[in-house]
Amino acid sequence: MRYALISDIHANLPALEAVLADVDARGGVDAVHHLGDLVGYAPWPDEVVETIRARGIQGVCGNYDSTVAAGAPHCGCRYEDPRQEALSHESYAWTRAHVGEAARRFLGALPFRMDLRPGGGHAPGSRVVLVHGTPTLNTLYWTADRDDDFCRKMAGHAGARAGDVICFGHTHVPWTRAVDGIRFVNTGSVGRPKDGDWRAGYVLLEVEGAASSAEFVRVEYDVARAMDAIRASELPDDFAEYLRTGGKAKAEAAA
Ligand SMILES: [Fe+2]
Repeated sequence: MRYALISDIHANLPALEAVLADVDARGGVDAVHHLGDLVGYAPWPDEVVETIRARGIQGVCGNYDSTVAAGAPHCGCRYEDPRQEALSHESYAWTRAHVGEAARRFLGALPFRMDLRPGGGHAPGSRVVLVHGTPTLNTLYWTADRDDDFCRKMAGHAGARAGDVICFGHTHVPWTRAVDGIRFVNTGSVGRPKDGDWRAGYVLLEVEGAASSAEFVRVEYDVARAMDAIRASELPDDFAEYLRTGGKAKAEAAA
């Protein structure tokens, strides 16, 4: 089975459209799933939800999705400095005010976790577990520098064993490694990468028997369209520069 896994779209419609076009052009993808954070930071929350719904792309609930759906006071995001925190609050307030009722209900109905059985459910075999952050919370950041014990602990929470794959997003930086025969895949972000590469990111996950591999794909998209729409909206203009630099705007300015 070959899966396309898309995460952290964050209301960036041009990035989502480019990724779906890339998946379609490749052919040979058996299923597309999303790993949450459909909304936030860009001005197309309803359009992104509608695209996902219309294509029948099933997936899990990100922290942004669940907090918007619940009307929580805070998106559960982490901030690196007070300015980023202030901008994030602005983004969250904007998104809560602009997500339509149909989209809000769709976000609230997303499951916390999805289990896939690439070989079918009629016999033992590898399982693929999809969550947004970790198997315990969608707000917890699972970065590449988490040690093997953290991975083992999370695998334990998920009930995973050798041959299984656990996939997640939330950090917006892609990585993969195996611990005790369990593969861990952070998909990176479609609509708001933070690794310095502005292109939309997603993963092609291939599972054959107990073997699995993850290919990280980057796709160019009309980032100018996204930047113009952010600037034309009441979202902070900083978010446009953030997209252009792949989340490194601040580092560039400091350098
Ligand atoms: Fe996110």
